[in-house]
Amino acid sequence: MRFKILETSLRWASILIFSLLFFSSVMASGQQDPGPMHDMRNMEEPVAADVATGRMIYRMTCIHCHGLKGRGDGAAAIFIGPYSHPRPNDFTAGIFKFRSTESGQLPMVKDLMRTIREGIPGVMPSFRNLGEKEIRQVALYISTEFIRQELPTKTTIEYVEHVGPYTYSVESARRGKELYTKLGCAACHGLDGRGTGITLQDVRGLHIMPVDLTRQETFGNGISHEDIYRTIMTGLDGTPMPGFSDQFKGHEENAWNLVHYILSLQGR
Ligand code: HEC
Ligand code: HEC
Repeated sequence: MRFKILETSLRWASILIFSLLFFSSVMASGQQDPGPMHDMRNMEEPVAADVATGRMIYRMTCIHCHGLKGRGDGAAAIFIGPYSHPRPNDFTAGIFKFRSTESGQLPMVKDLMRTIREGIPGVMPSFRNLGEKEIRQVALYISTEFIRQELPTKTTIEYVEHVGPYTYSVESARRGKELYTKLGCAACHGLDGRGTGITLQDVRGLHIMPVDLTRQETFGNGISHEDIYRTIMTGLDGTPMPGFSDQFKGHEENAWNLVHYILSLQGR
């Protein structure tokens, strides 16, 4: 009798183990690398399932600042810049600061992803830990639900690589200083880059000060050499900071001189 019970429980145990193995292998196969077809899918193409996951992430993570309808009126928004710039922007207005596209254009999906991944020092945390897939999903949600226009998939701005003759040199920074005066940067940022004390207004009429160029920690659009190059070329839409890509058309390498001048102001 006792032997019989043992035999039955052994049989059940083996059925249980077998089912566990079976289901875990099914689950694992669902997580396998979906293969090259998946990788080739257009990064900008919003797929319903991605947008749905993006919505979920947005509602749990971004809504407090950016608001249910993406208008920048979340419950916490008023505490960020109650009287001055920056405040969470209205995604539905289609004006974006951080782009790799020309001034006046919408950002690319990769631009939204960069902002979400890197965050904005002092005002928005980095969401790097969400993971790239989730960052893309929430970016696609913002574009389909709030921006509601097709985002550009390329830019007409030339991004000349920071190599060879365009790496830092004292001579290049000196030429950058000349451009700094010639292009009128000093009018807002001051002769020494520390600002002039003038207060300007952003697109919503909030007070905004030109960034102190000697303090990299106040830069919202990133502090790498490439980030500063991009800021100068594109400008920050919705703020008085203009884009200078027109002035550099055909001579993009000169923009690096200006970047080098800013780096020299920061002692790097
Ligand atoms: C603590 C508040 C806060 C949270 C949380 C937050 N943001 Fe932001 N976000 C801001 C502020 C403030 C700005 C405007 C910054 C500026 O203009 O410099 C902004 C700007 C942005 C921009 C636009 C930048 C541009 O180009 O003009 C995007 C895109 C963005 N946030 C996405 C997100 C996403 C996605 C999440 C959630 C994963 C999120 N944010 C969570 C505060 C927040
Ligand atoms: C009409 C005024 C104006 C002029 C001219 C101007 N800027 Fe700006 N700039 C601003 C303002 C305002 C900001 C701050 C924007 C913000 O806080 O989002 C800014 C921000 C910046 C930033 C920091 C961006 C960041 O990541 O937050 C850099 C770098 C910069 N300007 C460089 C330049 C250079 C180089 C020139 C000349 C080629 C120039 N600016 C001309 C007004 C100006």
